Amino acid sequence: MSKKEYKRVTTHSLKEMKARNEKISMLTGYDYSMAKIIDNSGIDIILVGDSASNVMAGHETTLPITLDQIIYHASSVVRGVKRALVVVDLPFGSYQSNSGEALRSAIRIMKESGAHAVKMEGGSEIKESIVRILNAGIPVMGHLGLTPQSIYKFGTYSVRAKEEEEAKRLVEDAKLLDELGCFGIVLEKIPAKISKIVTSSISSPVIGIGAGSDVDGQVLVTHDLVGLTTEFNPRFLRRYVDLNEIMTKAIKNYIKDVKNIDFPNQDEQY
Ligand code: KIV
Repeated sequence: MSKKEYKRVTTHSLKEMKARNEKISMLTGYDYSMAKIIDNSGIDIILVGDSASNVMAGHETTLPITLDQIIYHASSVVRGVKRALVVVDLPFGSYQSNSGEALRSAIRIMKESGAHAVKMEGGSEIKESIVRILNAGIPVMGHLGLTPQSIYKFGTYSVRAKEEEEAKRLVEDAKLLDELGCFGIVLEKIPAKISKIVTSSISSPVIGIGAGSDVDGQVLVTHDLVGLTTEFNPRFLRRYVDLNEIMTKAIKNYIKDVKNIDFPNQDEQY
């Protein structure tokens, strides 16, 4: 992409996309090289997700990733991106204590990584933090439904908001986040009929993951979409390529060539 070929995605253009019914595409990114490929492919939003804790660091949950680590990932992504909006997860433990800590963490992300927005898990319980971050001029994306930072409270990664009371609370939380000024909301692993209600009730774009098709856009973890992860197989995941298989084949061929002294050949040396 040359400089003139692209127009940067902004929080405002996302709202316009919702208004004209144009679906929004979002994927995770954690490093420079992948972010460059994803951005050049034309994605609208790149999320530097705390799922880096799982797919990049091999942890079982998203809880261990630190603020310093997410800033490292985010600054690598920002260097590879020309067009997409870069959103960064506030990691577990960097915003839950109080709104002052939340604001300081969000400011560090924006200042040290050059990203464009932050994402936070939760509804009314983090209202004060959201307001303070927004008042500092930092765009905030909400995240409701299955919120992996609370996995030990939920006990399982199963579908959320199946019961009426939880669904009602989720819709109320989504309306609150919209009223506060969040530029978008991620809905994770909830019944499609609840996502549809949320999407039609608020003006901010709703991005779903395992939340059906009646939303304003979709997000997946890139490593899942390209088949770099193999053990994570939820119903909502569509694998577009099996990079695990392709890479394994390539690496096995390289090993074979090294062992057989087929690599490097005459043209591959000085
Ligand atoms: O961390 C992440 O990758 C996310 C997406 C699943 C939305 O929050």
